[in-house]
Amino acid sequence: MNNIILGIESSCDDTSAAIIRDEYLLSSVIASQEVHRKYGGVIPELASRAHQLNIVPVVDQALKQAGVTMNDVDAIAFTRGPGLLGSLLVGVSFAKGLSLSTGKPLVEVNHLQGHILSCFLKEAGKERQYPHFPFLTLLVSGGHTQIVIVKDYLDFEIIGQTIDDAVGEAFDKCSKMMGLGYPGGPIVDKLAKEGDENKFKFTLPNVGGFDYSFSGIKTSLLYFLRDNLKEDENFIDNNKADICASFQKALIDILMKKLLMAVKQTGITQISIGGGVSANSGLRNRIVNEGIKRHWTTFVPEFKFTTDNAAMIAITGFYKFRKGETCSIDVAPISRASQMK
Ligand code: KG4
Ligand code: ZN
Repeated sequence: MNNIILGIESSCDDTSAAIIRDEYLLSSVIASQEVHRKYGGVIPELASRAHQLNIVPVVDQALKQAGVTMNDVDAIAFTRGPGLLGSLLVGVSFAKGLSLSTGKPLVEVNHLQGHILSCFLKEAGKERQYPHFPFLTLLVSGGHTQIVIVKDYLDFEIIGQTIDDAVGEAFDKCSKMMGLGYPGGPIVDKLAKEGDENKFKFTLPNVGGFDYSFSGIKTSLLYFLRDNLKEDENFIDNNKADICASFQKALIDILMKKLLMAVKQTGITQISIGGGVSANSGLRNRIVNEGIKRHWTTFVPEFKFTTDNAAMIAITGFYKFRKGETCSIDVAPISRASQMK
C-alpha cells in the first residue's frame, strides 16, 4: 500500500511544500524569502507576510510537479514547531483549512525530527546508504545544536545540546560582525575555503557532558576583531578568508569534540548530520574523514535536504501516519522545542 503525503514547512523564512510516495520524493518546492537580506536577519513580521503570499502557489506547484491532485494525497503533514510563531501559524492554518476542505487527515511534525529523518529520503534512480538503528545525529541548525540518539523512526533521545546559542547563530554572527552579509553560514563557508584555518586561534568553551556553548566564542571573535582593528583599520579586509577559515575550524572543533565523546560513551558508530549547518563543507569533510579514520559509517545529507525543506516534514509525517499518529483540527503551533513532545 502506497502512502502519498503532502508536507508543509513554514517555521522560519522558507515556505516549502513537498510530495512523497512512501519514502520517495516526488516533488519539493522552496520559496526563500529575499526580503530579510537587507536587514541582516529574519524579521518575523515580514516572514509571516511572505509565507501568506507564498503558501498557495508553493503547495500548488508541489502537487503539479509530482503529478498528483489533493484527491491522491493520503495525509497532510505540517511543521507544528519549533520556530517563529507568526511563520508557523501560516503553515498550520493552511494545513488545517486544506484538511477541512478535503477531509484528509492531519499529521503534526516536529521540525527537528524532520531534520534528523531527512537522511531516509529516497529519490528514484539515486542509490544511497541509509542508517540502521540506533544511530547518532549531530543536529546543527540556526536555532538548535544537539546530539541525538535515534533509536527508531520516532524514538529519539537528546543526549547533549547547546546551553545558549546555536552553532548556526555563531556562523551568522561571524558574518555580520565582519560586514559580509546574510545568511552568514554559506558566506563564511565560501571564504573559509580560500583561507588558512590555523592562522588565528580562538578559545574553545568548557562545558560539561555532551552539551555545547557558542556564546563565548562569539564574544571572543568580537574582541579579536575590535583589538585588531585598533592596530589596522583594514584588518578584516586584509584577512577575511583566514578569519573565516580559523573561526569555522574552531566551531567544527567544538562540534566534533562532543560528538567523539558521545561515540565513545554510547559505542554507536553510525553517525549522521542534519540541519542547515550540515551544508557546511568544512563540517562535511571533517565528519567523512573522522569516519574513515575511526571506522564509522557516516551519512551526510544532500545539500537540498540540509536547510529547511518540506520533504523532511513529509517523510516524518509518513512515518507517523503509518503508525496512525494523526492529530486533531484544534492543534496549535508551538514556538519552543522544549514544549514539544
Ligand atoms: O536548518 P536551517 O535552514 O534553519 C533552522 O532550522 O534554523 O538552518 C539555518 C542555519 C543558518 O544559521 C545558516 O547560516 C546555516 O544554517 N547554514 C550554514 C551553511 N548553510 C546554511 N552554516 C554554515 N555553512 C553553510 N554552508
Ligand atoms: Zn531547520
